[in-house]
Formats: sequence, structure tokens, C-alpha cells
Amino acid sequence: MESFIQISEKETDRPFWILRTEHTAYVLEVDAQGWVQHVYWGPRLLLDSDYRVAVASGPRVWERPTGISREEFPAWGDPKYGEPCLKATFADRTRAVVLQYTGYEITTEDDLPVLLVRLTDPHYGLEVHLHYRVIPEFDLIERKAIIVNGGDQSVMLEHILSAAWNFPLREGYRLKTLGGMWGSEFQIQDIELPIGQQVMESRRGHTSHHANPWFGLDCGATETHGEVWFGALAYSGSWKFTAERNAYGRVVVTGGVNDFDFTWKLDAGESFETPVFVGGFSAAGYGPASRSLHGYERAYVLPNAKPRPVLYNSWYVTTFDVNFENQRDVAAVAAEMGVEYFVIDDGWFGKRKNDYAGLGDWTVDRDKFPDGLNPLIDYVHDLGMQFGLWVEPEMINPDSDLYRAHPDWVFYFPNRPRTELRHQLVLNMAREDVREHIFKALDDLLTEYDIRFVKWDHNRSYSEVGWPEAPEGRDREIWVRHIRGVYDIFRKLRANHPDVIFESCAGGGGRVDLGIMRYTEQFWGSDNTDSSDNLLMFEGFSMAYAPLTKMSWVTEPDHFSGQRPTPLAHRFLAGMLGSLGVGAELTKWTPEQRAEGQRWISLYKDIRETVQLGDLYRLRSTRNGPLAAFQFVHPTGQESVVFAFLDLAHFGPYRACLLLQGLDPQARYRIDGQDTVMSGAALMQGGVQITLNGVFASQIIRIRRED
Ligand code: DGJ
Repeated sequence: MESFIQISEKETDRPFWILRTEHTAYVLEVDAQGWVQHVYWGPRLLLDSDYRVAVASGPRVWERPTGISREEFPAWGDPKYGEPCLKATFADRTRAVVLQYTGYEITTEDDLPVLLVRLTDPHYGLEVHLHYRVIPEFDLIERKAIIVNGGDQSVMLEHILSAAWNFPLREGYRLKTLGGMWGSEFQIQDIELPIGQQVMESRRGHTSHHANPWFGLDCGATETHGEVWFGALAYSGSWKFTAERNAYGRVVVTGGVNDFDFTWKLDAGESFETPVFVGGFSAAGYGPASRSLHGYERAYVLPNAKPRPVLYNSWYVTTFDVNFENQRDVAAVAAEMGVEYFVIDDGWFGKRKNDYAGLGDWTVDRDKFPDGLNPLIDYVHDLGMQFGLWVEPEMINPDSDLYRAHPDWVFYFPNRPRTELRHQLVLNMAREDVREHIFKALDDLLTEYDIRFVKWDHNRSYSEVGWPEAPEGRDREIWVRHIRGVYDIFRKLRANHPDVIFESCAGGGGRVDLGIMRYTEQFWGSDNTDSSDNLLMFEGFSMAYAPLTKMSWVTEPDHFSGQRPTPLAHRFLAGMLGSLGVGAELTKWTPEQRAEGQRWISLYKDIRETVQLGDLYRLRSTRNGPLAAFQFVHPTGQESVVFAFLDLAHFGPYRACLLLQGLDPQARYRIDGQDTVMSGAALMQGGVQITLNGVFASQIIRIRRED
């Protein structure tokens, strides 16, 4: 433990903490004024004294006129003009917070070292506990803050972020973010960080398709070279990051709960805990940065890292028109092809003939399933598959029995319209009665039926986010209380039904983040199932999120991209980048197509451990040329799999030499279908030659270790 968190105290009251991971160090100190200041974040240095020298190379002390402090958790009130982590109003209307260092503690949490630094407002007794959990093996530091009202009157918190990350003095910082929209989530954006403030945020109430709470900061790094600092926020409500650079070259990134329209009343003795903001440093580009996050997610965030099953879902074929017969017919074909889980999507409940009605009424539609779901579930079991179901628990159609009984259970303001999106309103999960009702409805479903998979959807952003019945002064807490309420339902359901796999979906990838990841095994990444577009989305997704969490279905050519005629091989191979699913009209497939699908699914099962649990190397991107290539290496190093995809090649076949990564240079490997044995060094330095011919050509290469 000592080796990961070390303290040296220059004077008894001024600690200097070195948080060590396997390859990095994060250093902070208390300065002469009692401020907790950032000192260093980067590769581990040889001597402890090196960190002080590293500091000396850049502006260090808090320079009042420059506006951006180097504080680990700046509070608003005195002359600093960057983004504060805390802004609050005290009962006497004082709006300036003063935070002075008052102590620290080193503890452990799940066997990981934790540094807790306590800051206190000397007059009002408001405390902030800065929490640093060190994840040595993945070179990450988790940060969060706990605000404790140690005074005797309420404090109104108006701005409470999880952390401010400070960066060393460099020239030419660049910012990477993930942006997009419905049907094209996770597009990588890369800009030179200008002087000023860049804001990445969601005010939609959920994570959003448009921006995702991950950032990368570098000075021109590639996948394999250059310094990269990165971070991701574990939160699924409205969030906000700022990246700020001043003319002195100081760069700070802050992040946490979005302060827009949000306040939290902290009564005496109460505390508020921010979401975790995890950050890391890689000395060798974005590849290691992503692999750190992937490993961390599998080990510390996801409910489990068991291999994910191949599933079938008929949404794109039947939409709301599911019934016993059509599900039975397609289930038989899916099982024959090797599918393991059969999932019914939207349309099985209430009066859900279309998206105008039914949300909120989680009972089986007897017109579609006259004898309930059990005959279909039994049939699915007889075929050797598990059964899954779609729900959208946070939403309600005004045309539902639930809404007619409880019109006040939604977000609303008196005297204002209740704007419907997709004909639905949002249930207010800040209310205990609503949470209890929804929990019970879901718990009953999972108890009555043998359901092993739940696709949890969320198909609108929020509006008129009102809670008129809230206790005095607490109505704006709805933003956070709502999502905490959702997490709470997940927690209870998981405890009662530990064998159920949950998938987070929000009209595609509108709720992909490390917050919901604690409760869900996987994400539905996009409603766009075009396999060529999926390559771009997978690349962006994998900057932050582990491949096994991304479910992709093989469907008929997708309407988002004009029904691009991608061959089945391309669709299956792109679907294998993560967790594979099938959503095609299988009953219309020819015997040859079914046989081909069966072969792909069987291959996928063979390599799934490598793809889902192994290390990912992004070798080529269609952002830079016609070729996309991804390599996975099994956790034991026994196998590596390379996927290559061609969009369009001019002037004949496209040839490339892929320099593999992550192999043992001394070990011997054999490529499937070839006799020659090659060393890891040869595969990584000499590479593997590939030739792809034609539009949407694709290839998979399996490499196995011989010794
Ligand atoms: C949006 C999801 O992303 C789709 O996969 C599907 O489940 C529909 N909702 C159902 O309404």
C-alpha cells in the first residue's frame, strides 16, 4: 500500500503526496497558504525529489491575475476566474467558499489504496473530502468529492464538480472528444485547444448521443506514440466537462454533474457525493489509454466480465408487430444458426400497437400473446436458448393506464405544456412512489417469467423538468435524484435477479457511460446497424469503452445509410467487434445464407474470448483511408485475431501491411491456413500482408501461439 501512496511532509502541516500507479505518478501538495495544489501527472520518475523539479519547470503557484488556479478542487469566491469545482450560497447569503486544508487519511476501498484529503471552510464548517482511489495496474486515478455540511444551517450547492485535472506545461495541446447524433454516435473529434474554454456537455437529462463524457488531451499523439491524458465520468444524467487553456499555457479539464438548472440543498449534517471521474496518463498514445480503461471497466466497473452471449432481436423486422407466431418462427431459425439468447423488443405489452400508447403498462398484451409469454419462453428454452425482453421503465405514454391513474408522476411544470417526444413523457424517478411502482413492475416480471436478458431502453431527452411536489428548495435536485433513482432500481433488481444480463439502450447509444456501466453488462451502441458506419462508431466507442460492452446486430442493409449493400461477411465481421447479435429477417434467408450465418456465429464463439476479454489494438481507421483494421489479443496471449475492412478502393485491389501489436516478440505464432511459423517480432515488425478486393471486402485473420 505504502508504495502506491506516499507522503512526504516538508513541514508537519504541509504534506506532499505521490500517488503511484505501475507506470505513472500523480502528485499533489499543500502550499504555504493551505491550498491543495496539483504538482505533477505523468510518467513515474526515478526519485521523489524529481517531482519537485518537474514542478519547477512550469508555472506552479496560484497566480491570482491569471484566472486559472492549479488547485485540485477550486471553490468560487476569491479572485480566480477559471471553472470552479464548487460554488455555494450560505444561509446568510454569503456566496464565497473558502477551502483550507485540514487533514488527510489513507485507507483502502476494495483493496485499492485511497487518499482522502479534507478541506474545510473555516467559518461555515462546510467540508470537502477529496477522494483519490489509485488503480495501479491500469495507471488510473479515480477522483470524486464528498461535500459535508458540518455547519448548523443549510447550504445551497450550485455547482459541484467531481474534479479539476491539471496538466503540465506543453505547447500545442489538442483535445479529443466523442460527438455525434442519433444513428452516428461516437464520432471522434480532434481540435487544437484554443485559448478560452471548450464545453462538452449534455443538458438532456441523460448522457446523450451528441456528446459523451470522455476526453483525451495530447500534443499530437497517435495510437502508439505520444503523451495522452484522458478521463471519463461515471454518470448518466446531465453532465459537463470544460477544457480551459489560458495565455500562460495552463490547461485544466473539469467535469461532473452539469450545473445548468441544478442546485442541491445541503442541510446541516448532510453530505453530497459527486460521481467518479477517472483519469489516466499514457506515454505511448491512445492505444494504451483505451486499453487501460477497458481493463479497468472489466475489473472494477462492470457487474461482471463473463463472455456475452450471441443474441437475436427482431426489432428491425417486426417493429411493434411482435406476436407469438412470428417470434416462434424466427426463434427456430435463430437457434439453428447458433444464437444463444432470444430477445423480444418493443411491442409485447399494454396497448403497444405503435409508439403512441402503452409505456408504463408492463403487462403482456394478450392480443399478441394470448397465453402470456410462457408458451414462447418454453419454446425458446426447448430450442436451447435463453429468453430476454425489452422494457423502457423511465417512460410513459399519456395513453396508458398508469398515466391516467397518476398524471403527476411525470416531469412537469404547472401552467406549462407537457411536451411529448416520441409521444412519451418522463416518469419522475426522484419520487419514491414512482420508483417503488416501477421496481415492483419489473421485479414481478422477472419473478414471473424466466427472463435472463433485459434490454432497458430510454427514448427521449427531457423537457419541462419540474417537480412541483418537491420539498421546499429541492425541486432542482430532480436532475440528480432522478438518475440516482434509476440506479437504485437497477441495484435492487440485480440483487434479486443475479442471473439477468442488462443492456443499456437509449435510442441507440444515448446512454453509454461508466455510471450506468456499473449496472449493465452491455450497451446497444446505435440504431444505425450499417456495418461500414459501425466501424467508425466502434472506433470512437472503443476510445473509452471496452469492446465486450458494445452489442452490434447483423441486420438487413440499414436504412440510415441508404441500405448500403454490404455483404453478409462484412456485416458479420463488423458485428464481431464486441458482442455479436443478429436482427435480420432470418425466416426469409436462403439455406445458403443461413449456413453462412451459422458458420460466422460458430467462428465468433471460437474467438469470442479473445475479442471480448482481450486487448484491442486499432491498426487502421476509415477516418484516414479506405481501410479499417482492428486486432485483439487474448488475455493469455494464446491467440490474436485481426479484422480488416475495406470501404472502397480505387485502382484495383488494396494491399496493406499490418504491423501487429501486443504479441510476444520471442514467441512463435502460426496464422490459420498457413504453414509458416513466425515469431512475434516478425509479425510486429515485418507485419502481415493483406489484399482486399472490391467494395466492402473484409477479412479475418486468426493467429495462434505455438509454444
Ligand atoms: C430504440 C432502440 O434503440 C431500438 O433498438 C428499439 O429497441 C426501439 N427503441 C424500440 O422502441
